[in-house]
Amino acid sequence: MQLFLDTASIDDVRAAARYGVISGVTTNPSLLAKEGGVSYRQRIQEIAAVIDGPISAECVSRKADDLVAEARELASWHPNVVVKIPIDSEGLEAIHRCSAEGIRINTTLIFNTNQALLAALAGAAFLSPFVGRLDDVSYDGMELIHQCVSLVETHNLGARVLAASLRHPLHVTQAAMAGAHIGTIPPSLIPQMLKHPLTDIGIDRFLDDARKAGLI
Ligand code: E4P
Repeated sequence: MQLFLDTASIDDVRAAARYGVISGVTTNPSLLAKEGGVSYRQRIQEIAAVIDGPISAECVSRKADDLVAEARELASWHPNVVVKIPIDSEGLEAIHRCSAEGIRINTTLIFNTNQALLAALAGAAFLSPFVGRLDDVSYDGMELIHQCVSLVETHNLGARVLAASLRHPLHVTQAAMAGAHIGTIPPSLIPQMLKHPLTDIGIDRFLDDARKAGLI
């Protein structure tokens, strides 16, 4: 499973990039709103200069014609831009039209397998089922990842499953075990994924013994 970073913060992108584990970035209007009025175009281009992979930028139009026009504009910002379109009737038409003209689409706000199937059939490159937001309303978000992976593999659909709204380290493990092609994670998850108390204890013990052995 590849990891994408779910943020619009260029500082967070730069900090995570040094580990070499981030293959792309996902943004959305809520993440951009935390960035103090920076232009979306400028921020996407800054991110694309740091991470050489798919960078998702999200449409906010509500009609198919407007979504297509907006998607063309977002896609013009950088060759690595993937355009996020929410799944509804207007969105589905826009996904089809944009995909047909070569704009890569990340279908966002997927909450059931029928939405995923329709988006994949319309030509979406990425399907983003939202795990945490389903958990928030007492549904099993990870079950949707299993279903979407099975859907794509059983029917040889071209789309990749991008597990979104991952909130804690166990979500990442479970999404990887479910076969998600990508998981997008908030920056705070990287230190959480790295952490294990036995690693810390082990390092301290080795350092103590290294001192006894005269190594340091
Ligand atoms: C990613 O593409 C999504 O926008 C993001 O993962 C949503 O996460 P949230 O449910 O924690 O806001």
